[in-house]
Amino acid sequence: MSSSTIEIRKVMKKDLKEIQFICEKCFPGDDAFELAESLIGVEHYYVAVESTSKLIVGFVIFGIYSIETAHIMIFAVHPNHQRKGIGLIILVFTLDVMRKSPIVRVRLEVKIDNVPAIQFYKKYDFKIKSKLKEYYDDLSDGYLMVKEL
Ligand SMILES: CC(C)(COP(=O)(O)OP(=O)(O)OC[C@H]1O[C@@H](n2cnc3c(N)ncnc32)[C@H](O)[C@@H]1OP(=O)(O)O)[C@@H](O)C(=O)NCCC(=O)NCCS
Repeated sequence: MSSSTIEIRKVMKKDLKEIQFICEKCFPGDDAFELAESLIGVEHYYVAVESTSKLIVGFVIFGIYSIETAHIMIFAVHPNHQRKGIGLIILVFTLDVMRKSPIVRVRLEVKIDNVPAIQFYKKYDFKIKSKLKEYYDDLSDGYLMVKEL
């Protein structure tokens, strides 16, 4: 892994099995994979691929809901590859894509007990804007986080 590099490309249908594995590990009990499956060909959707093995190590899905605001819908790194800088690579790529458009801010929701993700987003200047009471299907609360580009 250390001598290898990460490439980012558009998702393909053949990637779904690996995406399902990542969703089941990263979001156990959630319907993340159903959402991820339904958004192929619909939203901006990229996978990070380890260049030697060609295995998918993470992915991002985002939508654009107003001319100036993007919404990160799912962002995940394979559990075996977390804390190696891959999240940052995917985030930098995602923000670069957004900056080539009229988008000026990006928003996302995160469960309030998802400390790794909150720390990750805070490190890259996402700010907590509000608490979302019983936002998730399991009635857990979330935070709305926003970054100005
Ligand atoms: C959040 C997530 C995408 C981060 O991806 P990653 O590849 O592990 O992140 P990186 O290695 O690029 O980390 C960059 C920085 O984020 C912060 N960070 C990442 N994981 C962290 C953790 N578990 N605890 C505390 N800080 C963390 C650190 O500041 C880290 O820098 P450092 O390693 O030099 O200290 C990953 O943990 C993940 O996929 N989690 C499960 C899915 C999820 O929760 N997605 C977000 C839902 S909104």
